[in-house]
Amino acid sequence: MDITQLPSWQQLETLAQHMRRRHLRDLFAADPERGRRFSLELPEFLFDYSKNLVDDEVLVKLLQLARDADLGTWRRDMFAGAPINRTEGRPVLHAALRGGLPDSVELHGGAVQSQVESELGRLKEFVNLLHNGGVTGCTGKAITDVVNLGVGGSHLGPQMVIEALRAHRRGDIRVHFVSNVDGAQLADVLEQLDTETTMFVVSSKTFTTTETLTNARSALRWFGDMMSQEQILHSHFVAVTANPEKAREFGITPQRVFQFWDWVGGRYSLWSAIGLPIAIAIGFNGFRALLDGAAGMDRHFREAPLEENAPVLMALLSLWYCTFMGYPAHAVLPYEQALHMLPAYLQQADMESNGKSTTRAGEEATYATGPLIWGMLGINGQHAFYQYLHQSPEVVPADFIGSVTPGHDLPGHHEILLANMLAQSQALMNGVSVGQVASELAAKGLSEDEVAALAPYKVHRGNKPSNTILLRELNPGSLGALIALYEHKIFVQGVILQIYSFDQWGVELGKGLAAALQPQLESGDAHDQDTSTSQLIDFYQRVRSGTPVHGAAG
Ligand code: F6P
Repeated sequence: MDITQLPSWQQLETLAQHMRRRHLRDLFAADPERGRRFSLELPEFLFDYSKNLVDDEVLVKLLQLARDADLGTWRRDMFAGAPINRTEGRPVLHAALRGGLPDSVELHGGAVQSQVESELGRLKEFVNLLHNGGVTGCTGKAITDVVNLGVGGSHLGPQMVIEALRAHRRGDIRVHFVSNVDGAQLADVLEQLDTETTMFVVSSKTFTTTETLTNARSALRWFGDMMSQEQILHSHFVAVTANPEKAREFGITPQRVFQFWDWVGGRYSLWSAIGLPIAIAIGFNGFRALLDGAAGMDRHFREAPLEENAPVLMALLSLWYCTFMGYPAHAVLPYEQALHMLPAYLQQADMESNGKSTTRAGEEATYATGPLIWGMLGINGQHAFYQYLHQSPEVVPADFIGSVTPGHDLPGHHEILLANMLAQSQALMNGVSVGQVASELAAKGLSEDEVAALAPYKVHRGNKPSNTILLRELNPGSLGALIALYEHKIFVQGVILQIYSFDQWGVELGKGLAAALQPQLESGDAHDQDTSTSQLIDFYQRVRSGTPVHGAAG
């Protein structure tokens, strides 16, 4: 099926032309019930999508497109464990990790669920032992610090969650993260640690990722000759992987290898043993609550009618902007300090999933696919890039995310924070017309000429759309639901755009080239490279070897 030939698709293209001439101000003025009608109250949060450039007609057509794209079948197939990740021949079952499958689904005679439960059981036992001081280094001292060595999905999810749930920490084991092969990061972390009381978690789905394995080898060297290599690996190293064989080859004791499976995508893996650092930081019960929160969102996604389904609506709105309205970027703006890593986490989740241009039919997509996701803490962004959001000619739809309950007890702060969040979405929506600006300036006593000269710079066109997700409270359950909301949003968008969301071939090319360039950097012999690359390698070599480098190129 060529999706662009569907009547719903073509009607949406026409509606987008009309909608570009409408203003959010007018949509609100025309419907006193808009705020209430275009929002959903779920157990963990209020999802307000009323400040979006859509009306009932657009929403009806978007929902029709979802039906025409067979969303229901794809959703059923995903939860049933069908191999919907066809380019890798795998099912997509991260929902199974949190018990989020329908009761009727028994995959492989119950094997999937029992594998999940048994690995969770091992995790629980290990975490409790660690918390009770029962995990010791090779000199017999209890482990006090755990360093996660992993990158991408083996890093971003766990660290983002731990940062988000700082207020829910249990025990006093400190958790650190090293993701970068730039030795500066590992060196910085090691400086704070004691070999006798440190444990490394080598987190890698494939256990072949150069960055992670290089860090693991350097971590092993850091112990020096304190004990034999076998003893150090036995007492100070744990692995989390879908490739246990490779972890054993590295020398990690099988009892300390925690497993997950190839049906869990790296960027969807925080619910698996990859979440070990989370369970260490917030306790196993906290980790369970995170899983339960996500399972609640799985249920909502499976059962709610499409028009009341939060991930479906989010996906449709994102698709509306990116594909039909021509707004290619989307900002994630948390107004909650604890969520400071959420934009980085969602960048991988969304862009590694839907940043593609080949359709399921193997053809070049003739339409825009997933958005460019970016953002940072809203308050900091206000003093950095919001100028662009408000007054550049581009339209960047945004998600504002906040929490009703503060994560601290300092009086006065939270109201300022949330007032800013509300003010920004309102300012983006309404803008300020030249007439308003002129009367404000005149009221301040400016002359007519002064008003005319200054007013154009102060105009805000407005009409910049946003969602607001207002959590009741940020806790393990609501965070689980929030992450799963985005996961399903990404899935829905991929299904409708006919993209395979669960592979990531685009990250492989650079990996292969880096492997070939590494020896050339060392040898300096890069004559077979393009002239830019060979020049850069030559410069590198001359600086490294102390040969004088001339200021000008040529
Ligand atoms: O960057 C590409 C990627 O393959 C991601 O998909 C993945 O999360 C990351 O590398 C790390 O991979 P691994 O967990 O196998 O080390």
